[in-house]
Amino acid sequence: MAEWNRKDLLGLKELSREEILFILDTAESFREVSTRPIKKVPALRGKTVVNFFFEPSTRTRASFELAAKRLSADIVNISVNSSSMVKGETLKDTARNIEAMKVDIIVMRHSSSGAPHMLAKAVKSSVINAGDGSHEHPTQALLDIFTIREKKGRLEGLNVSIIGDIAHSRVARSNIWGLNKLGANVTVCGPTTLMPQEVEKLGVRVTNKLKEAIEEADVLNILRVQLERQSENLFPSIREYTNEFGIDSEKLKYAKKDILIMHPGPINRGIELTPDVADGPYSVILDQVTNGIAVRMAVLYLVSGRPESDETSD
Ligand code: CP
Repeated sequence: MAEWNRKDLLGLKELSREEILFILDTAESFREVSTRPIKKVPALRGKTVVNFFFEPSTRTRASFELAAKRLSADIVNISVNSSSMVKGETLKDTARNIEAMKVDIIVMRHSSSGAPHMLAKAVKSSVINAGDGSHEHPTQALLDIFTIREKKGRLEGLNVSIIGDIAHSRVARSNIWGLNKLGANVTVCGPTTLMPQEVEKLGVRVTNKLKEAIEEADVLNILRVQLERQSENLFPSIREYTNEFGIDSEKLKYAKKDILIMHPGPINRGIELTPDVADGPYSVILDQVTNGIAVRMAVLYLVSGRPESDETSD
């Protein structure tokens, strides 16, 4: 029988197919809580969660906070600009001081790939990666996969095309690990300059022809154009990107009639997709956000329930 024995959730690369399915099934059982008039269960009563965010976030931060509250945990939000890190305290010292206050779970977002992994080694508290650099965003991929399974009834054999800046996307990387383990076929599509080196080794089909990526897809997961990278000249102009890779209703004429349109947010409307597609009949973008709470409730619940003796990350 599947079970969860990990202290931390740092990425989907290290999880087995069974562990991913166990999280999804646990999320399924929590989904109903958010539909109740009183949205609360006592599962994490007496536990303390810290949201430790070094980068801006709307969805992930609010979703973890709501998930913790719906499980009856206490939650504290710390952002780096209002912490003593601006006075020079190191990440490790800050985290160990937080832990000294007997915190059970630290949810961390950081611009450096591997920062949550370093933290997980330094503290006994459980650590959940809420996005590290361009490495992984495991709970985003889990909510994406949960939403695909909810809408399509399966994952095995589905064709999922991820469109955009694959090289810098932690969302893409976590989705690729997770979807591959669950038997979906992943295609990545974007400008050659926004593809990681040796991308085929990730077990994906690669194309820079959007029509190809759309035609066979059951799901299009459209990534945010990271406008902050425009100074790196990775593509000639926003207008050219939109012409080649932006999704509009004209390009969706090649799509299957039951395609799902997904986006992790935040959306650049009119750049990677047009408003009529973002808000159109194929879009499940807000369902992703709703499902994020159930998935994060599951992850908080599972990491908090590990055997007391297990203090390793892998
Ligand atoms: N999808 C996502 O991570 O959104 P936020 O940056 O708003 O958390």
